[in-house]
Amino acid sequence: KVKGLKDYYQAYFPIGVAVNPRMVNEGAESSFIVQQFSSLTPENSMKMGPIHPQENVYNWEASDKMVAFAQQNGLKVRGHNLCWHNQTPAWFFKKDNRVVTKEELLARLKAHIFEVVKHYQGKIYVWDVVNEAVPDTGLSMYRKSKFYEIIGEEYIAKAFEYAHEADPNALLFYNDYNTESKAKREKIYQLLKGLKQKGVPIHGVGLQAHWSIDEPTQSELEESITKFASLGLKIQITELDISVYPKEHERRERRENDGVGIFTDEMEQKQIQQYKMVFDVFRKHKQNITSVTFWNLSDQYSWLDNFPVTGRKDFPLLFDKNLKPKKAFWEVVKF
Ligand code: XIL
Repeated sequence: KVKGLKDYYQAYFPIGVAVNPRMVNEGAESSFIVQQFSSLTPENSMKMGPIHPQENVYNWEASDKMVAFAQQNGLKVRGHNLCWHNQTPAWFFKKDNRVVTKEELLARLKAHIFEVVKHYQGKIYVWDVVNEAVPDTGLSMYRKSKFYEIIGEEYIAKAFEYAHEADPNALLFYNDYNTESKAKREKIYQLLKGLKQKGVPIHGVGLQAHWSIDEPTQSELEESITKFASLGLKIQITELDISVYPKEHERRERRENDGVGIFTDEMEQKQIQQYKMVFDVFRKHKQNITSVTFWNLSDQYSWLDNFPVTGRKDFPLLFDKNLKPKKAFWEVVKF
């Protein structure tokens, strides 16, 4: 029997993967998921748009399929997500050709969270309740999303309260990216601290971990972990990938080789070092880190091939396009 990533990390934390429903059909990918991973996150199917396309209309098929697959094969499931500014359908904010009122939007948010959380009660142990509510730059603590503009900052606390009421046993997380950048980390810290002080039912913070070969640094990462943990929150790494392009590349030129990409030896070495560093840190902080999930299965399927623009092929994961472990994989399991 092949030893999978999850087996190497059995004494530490579950190792997860984000996938779409096609990946759990019988086939090489689905057996590979079972061999390597012990946790599963639906990549898109549980987001508001896909799961709740019209008022009172819920699309369970894709998510049910993935949850059933996970249950049959002994994988835990992370629910992603209940409230986000992206992939939310336009109808959610409109009623009779006008913008919904605060009361109407809160009622919709509650109905949505109740329906989805109760549907998966006992099957999903942890939910990303609010996703990306803090902006990257600027002084404001809150992203100016429709939820924020219509409801105000209390939409965040409300979302957690609804989720807790719907399933008192589920663990409830706030999830965000760029959590290692100093300014944004501080804002997220203040937000979470405020929620804790108000007694809002929040149990953890998800570090998305969409990283690159040159960031974060070890000290930036460790500062985030210890700072959030000091609030009594658990930490989960929810969307890990390490782009082979330096962060600066995102701001400069965004396109490489028309979808073919470049993966030089130098990039590979840097990626290996970065993967080794972050997993060393995860193991070191295992009391606080309760899950590590990769955002996609292999370099064949990364969402980064279409983000920030389509056409820049990336190689951000531990398995190559043939599901073969990369050199970085062997570094990560060597300890
Ligand atoms: C991404 C998916 O991977 C893509 O398929 C989709 O087109 C857009 O969303 N932060 C998150 C995830 O919380 O939900 C996002 O997933 C990636 C960034």
